[in-house]
Amino acid sequence: MKTEELLRSRRTINSFKPEKPPEKLIRKAIDLARWAPNHHLTEPWRFYLLGSETSQAIIELNTEITRQKKGHTAAEKKLKKWSEIPGWLVVTVVKSDDPLQQQEDYAACCCAIHNLSLFLWDQGVGVKWTTGEVTRDPAFYDLIWADPEIETVVGLLWYGYPKEIPNSQRKPIEEIMIRLP
Ligand SMILES: Cc1cc2nc3c(=O)[nH]c(=O)nc-3n(C[C@H](O)[C@H](O)[C@H](O)COP(=O)(O)O)c2cc1C
Repeated sequence: MKTEELLRSRRTINSFKPEKPPEKLIRKAIDLARWAPNHHLTEPWRFYLLGSETSQAIIELNTEITRQKKGHTAAEKKLKKWSEIPGWLVVTVVKSDDPLQQQEDYAACCCAIHNLSLFLWDQGVGVKWTTGEVTRDPAFYDLIWADPEIETVVGLLWYGYPKEIPNSQRKPIEEIMIRLP
């Protein structure tokens, strides 16, 4: 894809075909992700590629959270939807004692995630970046073997071949572009 088409066409994917993209491709996406801009080159990102045991445990945790908050029917619906997701990745940022570095490291991780998403999109693989409640639960950190004192979850990324590609809109550019003399 040409760059412009790639940037315009990439969408957050909510439903995936069952087939899991090859790990080799995800490894390449991670390799390219880390070429994102990163002030002071701290390389603050960590990429956790989840196996089925871990993703299953996260699905169960999320089902339980949903059951407590929204009841049995909502929980069962989530369980079914999440069980259909083929690929699971978590990106974290290593914490910094310096608040400015912490902010810039988070920004760099967001750039890295977008690098990864755009590369995968060009390869026919869709991604959904989620920051739902489950990703802030202490049990989530336990499940991915991460210490919340040391790292913060930037996103839970689902990936796979898209079943459907949703539409998305943006405001007219005049609303967001400010021309100065
Ligand atoms: C930091 C971040 C967190 C997000 N978290 C969620 C989420 O928890 N649930 C969700 O449905 N989408 C989430 N998204 C995806 C956005 O909803 C999505 O990017 C937006 O609707 C625009 O759609 P597009 O990516 O197809 O352009 C998140 C995106 C970002 C950048």
